[in-house]
Amino acid sequence: MKLFDVYPLYNVTPISAKGIEVWDDKGEKYLDFYGGHAVISIGHTHPHYVKRIKDQLDQMAFYSNSVQNPLQEAVAEKLGVLSGCEEYDLFMCNSGAEANENALKMASFHTGKSKVIAFNNGFHGRTSAAVAATDNPSINAPINKQQEVTFLALNDFDAFEKAITSDDYCAVILEAIQGVGGLDEPTTAFYQFIAEKCKENNVVLIADEVQSGYGRSGKFFGFQHHGVQPDIISIAKGMGNGFPVGGVLIHEKFTPSYGLLGTTFGGNHLACAASLAVLEVLENENLIKNAAELGAYFKTKAAEIPEIKKVKGRGLMIGLEFDFEVAELRKKMIVEQHMFTGSAKNKKLLRFLPALNITKADIDLFFDGLKKAL
Ligand SMILES: Cc1ncc(COP(=O)(O)O)c(C=O)c1O
Repeated sequence: MKLFDVYPLYNVTPISAKGIEVWDDKGEKYLDFYGGHAVISIGHTHPHYVKRIKDQLDQMAFYSNSVQNPLQEAVAEKLGVLSGCEEYDLFMCNSGAEANENALKMASFHTGKSKVIAFNNGFHGRTSAAVAATDNPSINAPINKQQEVTFLALNDFDAFEKAITSDDYCAVILEAIQGVGGLDEPTTAFYQFIAEKCKENNVVLIADEVQSGYGRSGKFFGFQHHGVQPDIISIAKGMGNGFPVGGVLIHEKFTPSYGLLGTTFGGNHLACAASLAVLEVLENENLIKNAAELGAYFKTKAAEIPEIKKVKGRGLMIGLEFDFEVAELRKKMIVEQHMFTGSAKNKKLLRFLPALNITKADIDLFFDGLKKAL
């Protein structure tokens, strides 16, 4: 059997990693400034993370959601305290798309409606309703198109007001900082307007924090830069630092009932151990503060490079916009400078999404490499 060929691959075979350093099968070292699509939050093979998962594996890897699992409660408690979202309940699942699927489903159950408002260039995953709410027709199969979604421009107050007051929507879903799309953001005034109009029209506000959450933006959640309170928050990526885990934070005003949501693997013992390790390291090593400070340092360094036309994003979720398409530059960064970076739907944008414990010296290395590649 061969692999179903859906990924265009760089010719690199990483086999081990520590922090932001990655080694390939030939013993060559690379620096990871991308974290495998913003997944690596506390650094590769962080010793506390490795120990917690190994210890858990020795005890028990999995049992289903039909028995008590105090580890899930521990994740919920710690996540509530660290994020400041103690008035939400946690439902654990396995990925970002699944988190958004459950968020949209909850919105639909809650309102009895089914239409969704999403935004141009938004990305919410590749499954069912999540992909329908994603602005990319090429990954939206006819079966997904049954879901009715209205796409609007970010920060267009009039279009938003017209849409939300004119139709039967169950949810508005948005990213605080668009990841895949290219690091565009709602303004604070627009995010607050969305929150206010959702409340007025009994529409559920879903904050997709799959990429911008878990400290990456310099606050625990990206929406916290805007003083809003979403009804549902979806999480994944940095939550497990590479262990596949996701979740939905559902405001206490939603009433749960047995069987309403469910999953076989979600919240299993190993996923909880990984999630707890991440939260403990974020807290003990002050990584959210580090993300905010180093994001500011990164921006001062970026301002020194004339080829960079615009710096977008916050904390360690950053996009560098050039006046040319960056595919060749990104390739050079990997092949010649041995540095991983990311691309976006906006082809002129290079994405920088490192682990949250990088240092100023690491950022200096990035800019040395970027200058040489340019
Ligand atoms: C904002 C956002 N939401 C959802 C997803 C989907 O997550 P997953 O690939 O884990 O299904 C992604 C993935 O890139 C994302 O960036």
